Amino acid sequence: MIEAFDLFSVEQVAFGTGRWEQLGGFARRLGSRSLLVTNAGDPGDGGLVDRTLRHLEQSGVAATCFRQRGEPRVEDVERAVAAAREQGCDLVVALGGGSAIDAGKAVAGLLTNGGSVLDYMEVIGQGRKLTRPATPWIAVPTTAGTGAEVTRNAVIGCPEKRFKASLRSELLLPRIALIDPSLAVGVPPHVTACSGMDALCQLIESFTSNRAQPLTDAWALHGIRLAARALPRAVAAGDDVEARTQMALAAVISGVALTNVGLGAVHGFAAPAGANYPIPHGAVCARLLPPVIEANVAALHAEDRDHPGLAKYAEIGRALTGTCDAASDAIEAGIGCLNDLVDQLQIPPLRQFGLTPEGFADLVSLARKASSMRYNPVTLSDAALTEILQKAW
Ligand SMILES: [Fe+2]
Repeated sequence: MIEAFDLFSVEQVAFGTGRWEQLGGFARRLGSRSLLVTNAGDPGDGGLVDRTLRHLEQSGVAATCFRQRGEPRVEDVERAVAAAREQGCDLVVALGGGSAIDAGKAVAGLLTNGGSVLDYMEVIGQGRKLTRPATPWIAVPTTAGTGAEVTRNAVIGCPEKRFKASLRSELLLPRIALIDPSLAVGVPPHVTACSGMDALCQLIESFTSNRAQPLTDAWALHGIRLAARALPRAVAAGDDVEARTQMALAAVISGVALTNVGLGAVHGFAAPAGANYPIPHGAVCARLLPPVIEANVAALHAEDRDHPGLAKYAEIGRALTGTCDAASDAIEAGIGCLNDLVDQLQIPPLRQFGLTPEGFADLVSLARKASSMRYNPVTLSDAALTEILQKAW
């Protein structure tokens, strides 16, 4: 039986190679003074940021640049909001990887709702609801990974609280997600690998989420097939626009899926791991994904040998490998395929980022508080969570 569900998404996804050229026209429709939040280079370096600033100005939209460095923290967002207020910005353009997109998203939300970031943040803040639509904003991703261009949450770090958490509301969705896969052509292989593994992980976790629903399931399964084949190609040959396009599509699907149905234990760990260790989000996701699937399969099997969750892991295995094996073989083949992919892409194990076994207990208890953990298909014991870290270490 198909149960009731909702699907939220952006007003417009403008997808396709060369569509960056349309940014000025879209921007002019939405505002006249923009804050460009970006991590796609520095103003003055002659690259994409300069081209974008020029393009906006030539289209009749004033542009002020805010350079986002690293993953956004509370103080970054507050500084960007202050800059936007000072310039009287009525539009935000976020250009770059997930960090810039999330920073721009938070800025757009804060500009109309007032107050400070922590007033609205989940887990580490007051969790107040946003009540006003965000300032119109356009998301222009340059990497294929987080899917942040279509999600309704912005992940913000707070070093003092040793946690990353979300500002979350439908009111934060951009007006337009402008996805031009050719913008990723210059992205270096290790960034392509990590961000692509994040997308694949999000597709798998949303497909197995305990809130999964038929629309996102259909898309996510397609996304898993795309990513499994295109990611090694995009990493090996960055100028393979076809592979870049397939990864951009996989990433946008992962964003639509996760924002509607949630994720799971991999992302439950990723939030505190990323806040406490210098681990790129995609790397931690990649390393945790195979052991989390093993733990989930074992726990589902212990609950009920015919648990429907097991059939979903078998479908994932078939999508990853392109075979039509029986369920238990397909699950095993899927896990093997992911382990091979992580090795092939040379994603470092977690020990290389300063995590030690003494830190496991702390990470397990922090992960339990993360919002993603609630959507894992099965509740995992502390022992199972610790074993996952051991395997990814
Ligand atoms: Fe992610």
